[in-house]
Amino acid sequence: MLNNLTKLSYQTLQQSKNYLSLGHKTFFTQLQNLLYPPQEPSQKISPQAIATIQNRLNQLLEADWQDTQKGIYPESVLFDNQWTDVLINYPLLCLDLPQIWERISQKQYQEFSKEIDQQGYPSYYLQNFHHQTNGYLSDLSANLYDLQVELLFGGTADAMRRRILSPLKRELQKFQETQQKQIRILDVACGTGRTLKLIRSALPKASLFGTDLSPAYLRKANQLLSQNPGELPQLVQANAEELPYLDHYFHAVTCVFLFHELPPAVRQTVIEQCFRVTKPGGVFIICDSIQLSDSPELVEIMESFPSTFHEPYYKHYITDDLIDKLEKAGFQNIETQTHFLSKYLIAHKPE
Ligand SMILES: C[S@@+](CC[C@H](N)C(=O)[O-])C[C@H]1O[C@@H](n2cnc3c(N)ncnc32)[C@H](O)[C@@H]1O
Repeated sequence: MLNNLTKLSYQTLQQSKNYLSLGHKTFFTQLQNLLYPPQEPSQKISPQAIATIQNRLNQLLEADWQDTQKGIYPESVLFDNQWTDVLINYPLLCLDLPQIWERISQKQYQEFSKEIDQQGYPSYYLQNFHHQTNGYLSDLSANLYDLQVELLFGGTADAMRRRILSPLKRELQKFQETQQKQIRILDVACGTGRTLKLIRSALPKASLFGTDLSPAYLRKANQLLSQNPGELPQLVQANAEELPYLDHYFHAVTCVFLFHELPPAVRQTVIEQCFRVTKPGGVFIICDSIQLSDSPELVEIMESFPSTFHEPYYKHYITDDLIDKLEKAGFQNIETQTHFLSKYLIAHKPE
């Protein structure tokens, strides 16, 4: 009975997030169209695609709930709402929109304020990804990012991230029996630390590490993770193309929502780095956008995504053969899954 009530509360919470983000998108798209009338009529999503998305969303929430029942992570993580963060950041996000619309209308995709230090970053990174003001390089961007992603995915971003936890725990079992506390997990491009926080909830004793190129996002991650009980993850600013760790150091490496933002050749380099730092017998788990090969029925969504949000490498990403790239690096026995709008690759480094 209590269980049913908890499940219902979770479903209701997710539904309200979905409605709120739909309301936000509808209102502000209309306002944007009024102020900056589009040159071409915007593409309507077909009823079939909407039905597929709804169906996949229901399956995602069910899988998420089932994993709490199996003890993979606690029920409490399903209700991890940062309402104070939302209350503070939603007005700031709305205030930022006129600047974003102006940049879109001027087709400016690499605009940074003078005070942003652009030295030392690869050129592909110096972009206003998702039209974000100052790309990934300001504290405001880091503060707004989680909310922007939640609005984009209707409040399901963490539920999609959590799909890595079951394979992660399963793959680590063989190490845990012998080395309990010494399990080391690296989250590459950890952003604001959401994935590390979720990993901590499933594996409270593991040593966690995170890297990202953005100092502002790492500061935000540090803030989030220091509120959590348990050992603080070690966060380091680093390019995923040159991970600052010894060979074979990690039992597992994860990487969430990075690959679609990398040029094709860089994707291969990052995969090779992840292979290098993974232990023989360890696992590398990618969570990223669906691709044409696994979700052809959602082609219209994938094709419209890079024009709605500035995602310069997405068009190539959706056709990229990630399994081939993983195998070229040396990974074997690659399992793939899709959940809602994300795909997962679980790649094994041979013993
Ligand atoms: C879409 S965000 C995903 C962040 C986080 N993993 C999440 O689940 O929200 C992409 C992240 O990748 C980082 N990033 C992009 N290119 C990178 C690179 N070459 N090396 C390290 N981090 C990178 C960005 O700074 C940003 O935090």
